Amino acid sequence: MRYLTYLSLIIAVSCSQPKKQQATEEKEHFIQTIAFGSCSRQDKVEDQLWKEVVAENPNIWIWLGDNIYADTEDMAKMKADYDLQKSHPDYQALLKQSSVIGTWDDHDFGGNDLGKEYPMKDESRDLLFDFLDVDQKNEAWNRKGAYQSYRYGSNGKTVKIILLDVRYFRDSLLWTMNPKTAQVNMDGDILGEEQWSWLEEELSDKEADLILIASGIQVLAKDHRFEKWANFPKAKTRLFNLIKENVNVPLAFMTGDRHISEVSKFDLEGYKFPLYDFTSSSLTTPWGEQSEDPNELRIGPTIYPVNFAVMKVNWANSKPALQLKFVGKESEVLHDFSVDY
Ligand SMILES: [Fe+2]
Repeated sequence: MRYLTYLSLIIAVSCSQPKKQQATEEKEHFIQTIAFGSCSRQDKVEDQLWKEVVAENPNIWIWLGDNIYADTEDMAKMKADYDLQKSHPDYQALLKQSSVIGTWDDHDFGGNDLGKEYPMKDESRDLLFDFLDVDQKNEAWNRKGAYQSYRYGSNGKTVKIILLDVRYFRDSLLWTMNPKTAQVNMDGDILGEEQWSWLEEELSDKEADLILIASGIQVLAKDHRFEKWANFPKAKTRLFNLIKENVNVPLAFMTGDRHISEVSKFDLEGYKFPLYDFTSSSLTTPWGEQSEDPNELRIGPTIYPVNFAVMKVNWANSKPALQLKFVGKESEVLHDFSVDY
């Protein structure tokens, strides 16, 4: 029974291929292009990057949180914010063309830097799932929180996408001021026990050839003063241990939140592939000043203009290879980067 429940958590999706593909590729049903981004102010209608996202023709678009800036306990206001975001004509075009999935971060959850103390989290979660058109049959509807998983492809070309909820269950975070700096919560948790045991089962999925984990806040970067997994060292160690114990295939994180983009890399002892954290933020609102952001794990530049990320997965060899680019206004490529596992 438990196994059946587990199976029902996984939605295997055969994605239609983008148009204008070569005939040999059209016979395959696997993921080639995954686009993702975060931090989108719904009221900056003219600044949206949806036209550029649509031009990339991704199989999947992944929202990494701060999908709207609601910052409210007024659910009518939150719904109106989602409606505005969803009504953008170019976003509507994306919905017709691509599979759209996602999770949330603080501003769409309910308020800046909030965690489990936010009183409207159940109502807010339902609005998120309505916005994302999460299938009514998806088990995620019956759980607390917004975590979900999806599996695409088959036969050695299977990508598993795990969308974490880093808000609903997150313990409190204390801040000091001047400058505003998050304090480490030594015993605090991010995911909550139910999500932890769900995650362990998801990570032990033997069908997956590539695992991508979405988290609103950055997983690897640890040197800056804002929100990050490093503020909860117990939870971060637990996540790394789960990966070491259960994962035998390449795994990468996709994160947002920061209003900068960057790639971080970390060699986790006991896990045979390098860990990458691909951070893409913001879709509409760049960080004000371009002061240097500390991150000793960063490889490549810090990207300040508005952007989203496009990941192409090459399945030609026994292990997937990734080609990543950060795309800005007018489809300008701000940085590109490849990973061979
Ligand atoms: Fe955020």
